[in-house]
Amino acid sequence: MNMRRGIIVVSALIAMVGLMSSPGMSLASDQMAAKDILQQNCVQCHRLEGKPDSRFNLKAPDLIWAGSKYRRPWLIDWLTGKEAPLYAKGYRWDLSEAPLKHPVVSASEANAIADYFAAHNKDPRVTVGAYDLSKVTKFEASFGGMAFKAHACLGCHTINEDGKIIGGPQSSALQGSGQRYDQDWLFRFGLNPQDFVPHSGEFLADATEPQLRAVIGYLMTQGVDDFKYYEPWTSPEFGVASVGRGKVIYKEYCSQCHGATGKGDGPAASGLDPKPAIHANIPFEKLPMEYLYNVINHGGPAIGKSPNMPYWNLTIGQQGVADVIAYLKATFKGLPAGAAAVSAAATSTMPTKAAATATSSSGGQSDACVQPRKTVMAPDSFLVMTNPLAASADVLQAGKTLFQKSAKPAACVMCHGEKGDGKGMMGAALAPPPRNFTCNAMMKDIPDGQLFWIIKKGSPGTGMMSFSGLSDEKVWQLIHYIRSLGR
Ligand code: HEC
Ligand code: HEC
Ligand code: HEC
Ligand code: HEC
Repeated sequence: MNMRRGIIVVSALIAMVGLMSSPGMSLASDQMAAKDILQQNCVQCHRLEGKPDSRFNLKAPDLIWAGSKYRRPWLIDWLTGKEAPLYAKGYRWDLSEAPLKHPVVSASEANAIADYFAAHNKDPRVTVGAYDLSKVTKFEASFGGMAFKAHACLGCHTINEDGKIIGGPQSSALQGSGQRYDQDWLFRFGLNPQDFVPHSGEFLADATEPQLRAVIGYLMTQGVDDFKYYEPWTSPEFGVASVGRGKVIYKEYCSQCHGATGKGDGPAASGLDPKPAIHANIPFEKLPMEYLYNVINHGGPAIGKSPNMPYWNLTIGQQGVADVIAYLKATFKGLPAGAAAVSAAATSTMPTKAAATATSSSGGQSDACVQPRKTVMAPDSFLVMTNPLAASADVLQAGKTLFQKSAKPAACVMCHGEKGDGKGMMGAALAPPPRNFTCNAMMKDIPDGQLFWIIKKGSPGTGMMSFSGLSDEKVWQLIHYIRSLGR
């Protein structure tokens, strides 16, 4: 017992002595050692100083700004051989299309090199703190993903989408960006790539700064499974939201379309298709904050809806958005349960045509099985499509998760209802009402390709938004799930 304690004390002492004596000395000697390693093992391929030059004059990416470019854990992993090649077709693809087997150093050498870079290879052009990673919202990242594609970035760089690596493998792989890059370096690089890699096949995009920021936000989520998104509705503005101020905003800005009492009958409404939402029928308290925030702050297209629903962020600011949401929640509670039941009872006994007028004038759901369908017919090339997936348990489960929970901009359940009968909580606000997938008599005549087309494109002039962000595979999973709801 005594002896063991003695050993512990002694080893603790040694550790303390080690700690006390080492910092200054070993740091300096580590740096010397790192310099030696770099001189002996790295500079034959990499430059540590000099002016940006064409890839076609280099053997390997420049490390001139290595102290600003990488996250340290990634750098250590890279140097100790734990990372996949970045250039699948070789950095100098003009000489050889094989990826390089990179030289490997020990963990302590890698740490010494990382320290050396941090001390000697900082890039003065990079402003520390220029990019605030803690303010990236889910919406911004997914918008950045679209901008990444719209600006051809996917043409030369690979990314990870739904677990698949896609894109042209010509330049640096970007699927691990969030683990690899320092966000401030990435932002500075994005402002003008030619400051780093001139005459290398690089591309200068015609993107605004907000777009660039969204792209960077998107890239920084690549390879990070538990990325912590910013949720604006948890900000201080929402903590002090005022129903009274929201009421004034509603009158000044919203009622011109949505009407003074939220009936969707403001002066602009007569000329709009689709019509402004009937707020009076929406139980706002039950809507996900993310959805509400996005449609009001970023506008209709942010949730796959009409661009005639403006984006209000610039006009009323974060406080205004918070206030008007507080007003919507305090004021509009949805249709009373009785009203929906009465309208359902009235329409279910009517012949289809009368039911059509009844439902489309009042909006909302009914118990009628076969719904009047004015939905535009998909082009022939879509109508002939059949579901390429087998209806396995996995596929149905994946479809169910999308339908009930995860589909963006909004889960199908919000409108089509938990059972798929068209009676979701938003259904009552929509005319025409959401499709009733439980009605076999109607669904059997709608081809797979038609369902596919409407899910991708939306049904213009109705509440059915476009889900253009869903991959083909996910849409087919949804279609199997929808088909499984029929009775
Ligand atoms: C034989 C040439 C060669 C040697 C020697 C070499 N590298 Fe590399 N290095 C490359 C190439 C080529 C790449 C591009 C990576 C790829 O193709 O996947 C690279 C990539 C890197 C990267 C990532 C660069 C980026 O941002 O894309 C770092 C960091 C790096 N090397 C550090 C080192 C260090 C430190 C040493 C010395 C211990 C070293 N390299 C030795 C050729 C070399
Ligand atoms: C025409 C091909 C092409 C397109 C399009 C393109 N890039 Fe690049 N990109 C390159 C080349 C070439 C480099 C320089 C590195 C290299 O030599 O491969 C580069 C470098 C980069 C780097 C730094 C890589 C590193 O680790 O050093 C990032 C980040 C990047 N591009 C992002 C983007 C984004 C974002 C877009 C879209 C706005 C885009 N790229 C569009 C070819 C392209
Ligand atoms: C210029 C006309 C216009 C103004 C002004 C306007 N909206 Fe809208 N709003 C629309 C239209 C049109 C839609 C329906 C979009 C669709 O269904 O594609 C809509 C939809 C909505 C929705 C979505 C409901 C749903 O179906 O998910 C909300 C919430 C909303 N508006 C809130 C507001 C608020 C809050 C304001 C004021 C700050 C406002 N709107 C001002 C036209 C307008
Ligand atoms: C905001 C409400 C809303 C959401 C969310 C919504 N839908 Fe719809 N959906 C509708 C409405 C309203 C219709 C009826 C459109 C019409 O009559 O043309 C519809 C119709 C459809 C149709 C019928 C197409 C046809 O040709 O008859 C399909 C399929 C469909 N939705 C699938 C989905 C899927 C899958 C999701 C989720 C990924 C979804 N919807 C989410 C409101 C919504």
